[in-house]
Amino acid sequence: MKNIMEQDTVALDEQNGAIVIIDQTKLPYSTEIISLRTQEEIWNAIYLLQVRGAPAIGVTAAMGIYLAAKGIKAENYEDFYSQFKKAADYLDSARPTAVNLSWALRRMEGVVRKNSGRPIPEIVEELRKEAIEIRDEDIRVCKAIGENGLSLVKPGDGLLTHCNAGQLATVRYGTATAPMYLGHERGYNFRIYADETRPLLQGARLTSFELSQAGLDVTLICDNMSASVMRKGLVNAVFVGCDRVAANGDTANKIGTSMVALAAKRYNVPFYICAPTSTIDMNTKTGADIKIELRPDHEVTEMWYSRRMAPEGVKVFNPAFDVTDNDLITAIVTEYGIARPPYSESFKKIFELKAASEKKG
Ligand code: MRU
Repeated sequence: MKNIMEQDTVALDEQNGAIVIIDQTKLPYSTEIISLRTQEEIWNAIYLLQVRGAPAIGVTAAMGIYLAAKGIKAENYEDFYSQFKKAADYLDSARPTAVNLSWALRRMEGVVRKNSGRPIPEIVEELRKEAIEIRDEDIRVCKAIGENGLSLVKPGDGLLTHCNAGQLATVRYGTATAPMYLGHERGYNFRIYADETRPLLQGARLTSFELSQAGLDVTLICDNMSASVMRKGLVNAVFVGCDRVAANGDTANKIGTSMVALAAKRYNVPFYICAPTSTIDMNTKTGADIKIELRPDHEVTEMWYSRRMAPEGVKVFNPAFDVTDNDLITAIVTEYGIARPPYSESFKKIFELKAASEKKG
């Protein structure tokens, strides 16, 4: 098996009509590469977190809906469109918080509508190209976030991250980890602190795994230690990813992120969100409008333990994400530059830059 960093998190296997992923529920013990062929397999892989992280979910959905479209038997465009829409709504229902899922599916739907006058096989070919473009774009976007994020830190810095917004959550580089990887290539010698991230341990199983495989200096800490390492002066900046950023800058990310932001404020540590513009949802006004996914109790009471660690029947509250209020966020690092408060203003500028760059081609 090659090094995990050389393996694409999500890839399209055109010949076999499948999406190929690394099963992230098996990491770090074993690296299992699995093929997803049916829509149910794709839906389950997203729901069960075999593929996870907002950008990777978006890429999987784009490839998934392309495969669905390829399998549609339709007499005419209307029939094709209605079956396409049904399949897109199904995939969209797998997880509610990461906006990249619906963003990618809407973008694919746009391709169908734009090409409504063409024969169905040609529409399907356009969908294939768009899915590949969403994948390739993700690599470019993460690299640009990395460059912008790197401008905020200096060699030798201690950087803390929560959950996994790494290569495993994207196609390559990650978002929050992109400045770390680029800095590593340039000899920055960062000291990285990875929160283990209860209950699904994305920090322990995935972030500390991929960063150490890539040769970075990473120290795993329990979630309840982040304030303590900040108080000791070991952390110069926090970089985390996000699942949905509202128009006012309130940000949903993995449960526990807002606690890290509160501690960072207390200890004067800059707190940065790394956000591809595909994760900024200008249709969601504030964090109060973000739907937070609730996950099953067993993830808290027994998963990862050799035996159950909570009394049978105990009430469990297991939201997968929380919202960090915009006033706790020092800046939001995008591929088009660094947005600072007030975010309603700075996002306008970021989206103007994006529109100008898309116009230029
Ligand atoms: O439940 P997960 O593992 O999908 O949650 C992932 C996160 O919260 C990430 O920080 C976020 O999706 C950004 S990934 C670049």
